[in-house]
Amino acid sequence: MNIIEKLQWRYACKKFDDTKILPDNKIDILTEAFNLTATSFGLQPIKLLVINNKTLQQNLVPHAFGQQQVANASHVLLICIQDYFTLEDIDAYFDLEKEIRGTSEDIISPYRKQLKDIFANKSTIEKQESAINQAYIVLGNLMTVCALEGIDACPMEGFNAQKFDEILELKKHNLKSVLLLPIGIRAADDFMSTLKKVRKPIDDIVIKL
Ligand SMILES: Cc1cc2nc3c(=O)[nH]c(=O)nc-3n(C[C@H](O)[C@H](O)[C@H](O)COP(=O)(O)O)c2cc1C
Repeated sequence: MNIIEKLQWRYACKKFDDTKILPDNKIDILTEAFNLTATSFGLQPIKLLVINNKTLQQNLVPHAFGQQQVANASHVLLICIQDYFTLEDIDAYFDLEKEIRGTSEDIISPYRKQLKDIFANKSTIEKQESAINQAYIVLGNLMTVCALEGIDACPMEGFNAQKFDEILELKKHNLKSVLLLPIGIRAADDFMSTLKKVRKPIDDIVIKL
């Protein structure tokens, strides 16, 4: 399959085969892809929760408007943002860059100051909104990697993030949930899998100048 065929193959899976569990190497690919996702300034104000616990998945369903794909998925990926993003996080980013690239503080220092100045003027809400944008980039990246790897997935905004945060005790980890991505293998009787894609004609959605 070429990439377009793979993107045609993917769909928002509504029913996974709950007897099929994704092997660890597939989960490793997705966690690496998560970490390789580009973020604004490279700051990665995000975290990925990998849930592989049927009881927990079942308990989350009522807080996802009863959407059963959360329960019958092999794994549920929960894309989170940092609740509070601080100037120490910016220091940690530049310290990591020094460690990995061996860049000197002389070179880093003006960037460190510039970024801290930018973030010092942002409200908590503004920082969270920016982090949420990064979460959506992650979602797109993971969905594409799933398609390439033959993993079925369902992107989901339809859940009560506050309830998820409570159940998963995310506050104590300084996290807030943003997006869900149940993953696994489609059930043979998921009627959605055979439906044609509903998309506008290319000429209506792409403007070439
Ligand atoms: C950000 C986002 C949130 C979505 N939330 C849900 C959801 O809560 N439940 C669901 O079943 N599908 C959800 N979808 C799936 C879309 O309805 C689906 O991707 C769209 O109709 C296009 O269909 P396709 O992905 O099968 O091509 C979501 C998709 C995106 C991108």
